[in-house]
Amino acid sequence: MREFAARPVIIDCDPGHDDALALLLAAGDPRLRLLGVTTVAGNQTLEKTTRNALRILALAGVADVPVAAGCDRPLVGDLTVAEDIHGSSGLDGPDLDMPVAEVADVHGVELMRRLIGGAAEPVTLVATGPLTNVALLLRRHPEVMPRVRRIVFMGGSTDRGNTTPYGEFNIVTDPEAADIVLRSGLPTTMIGLNVTHQALATTEIIAEFHRLGTRIGTVCADLMTFFASTYHRVFGFEHPPVHDPIAVAAVIDPSMVRTVAAPVAVELTGTYTRGATVVDLHRRTARAPNADVAVGLDVDAFWRLLMAAVRTVGGAPGPSNGLG
Ligand code: RIB
Ligand code: CA
Repeated sequence: MREFAARPVIIDCDPGHDDALALLLAAGDPRLRLLGVTTVAGNQTLEKTTRNALRILALAGVADVPVAAGCDRPLVGDLTVAEDIHGSSGLDGPDLDMPVAEVADVHGVELMRRLIGGAAEPVTLVATGPLTNVALLLRRHPEVMPRVRRIVFMGGSTDRGNTTPYGEFNIVTDPEAADIVLRSGLPTTMIGLNVTHQALATTEIIAEFHRLGTRIGTVCADLMTFFASTYHRVFGFEHPPVHDPIAVAAVIDPSMVRTVAAPVAVELTGTYTRGATVVDLHRRTARAPNADVAVGLDVDAFWRLLMAAVRTVGGAPGPSNGLG
């Protein structure tokens, strides 16, 4: 068995159906050491995203990972949740038990600071919601930056948006926060819709979740069934794209996601384009690259990775004849 040191990560999220899969992937893959989870307002209110993070970790049997609530609104402007996609609870679909763990009595940004400062090696920040907490960390505690190995965020797009014609939800929700992160100078990976729309939870994927024969497998199937219904109603998608776990997969196995170094700017003032990520893929401007931008995904390898992690965290027997 090849020995390897698990990579320390913190996940900042807004669960959210696909955030839930990101948490399960992080909890179930031995190549990551989940130091902590912080929550942010986005898909739903902070109270709901925090309760949902606790529920998913409880479901996964993860009791030793601190969860702290972060910002309840974007840096500028008001919060608009995505209830049409994730439902009134933020995790509509399955019947999830109420959380068993308590939320930490520190702000999410403070938890990030403590975990990064106390880690034996630099920590990877994986953000799957609006970047409000991450931006505040960098502004309030610049001293932690040398201890941040990389920021990997799900957000933006090299082409069209999903919340406005050119804006993706996480960035549109808090464009100023994204701008702060992308100007930070830290190694940054952007996992945008142009890639995440390739990872579709098809009926075969849902069937494979069911075939795991575990409570977690059934919950994942029920989450994706609900997600499929809203993505079909709102966007006309046949199957829902699972955006967030790809950001986690990119940390576990960077070879799974093809990236190009490119300048990425966030539009802050455009009447029709505020929140757009302007990715200069063909280097037409004099701007220097500030992010590794995802442009390709090994879709089959991603689903094998996710299914294996859900199997592990759910205590299912070995690989079936399906995925993973
Ligand atoms: O645009 C998709 C992103 O916005 C995902 O992270 C989803 O969970 C929502 O947060
Ligand atoms: Ca999310």
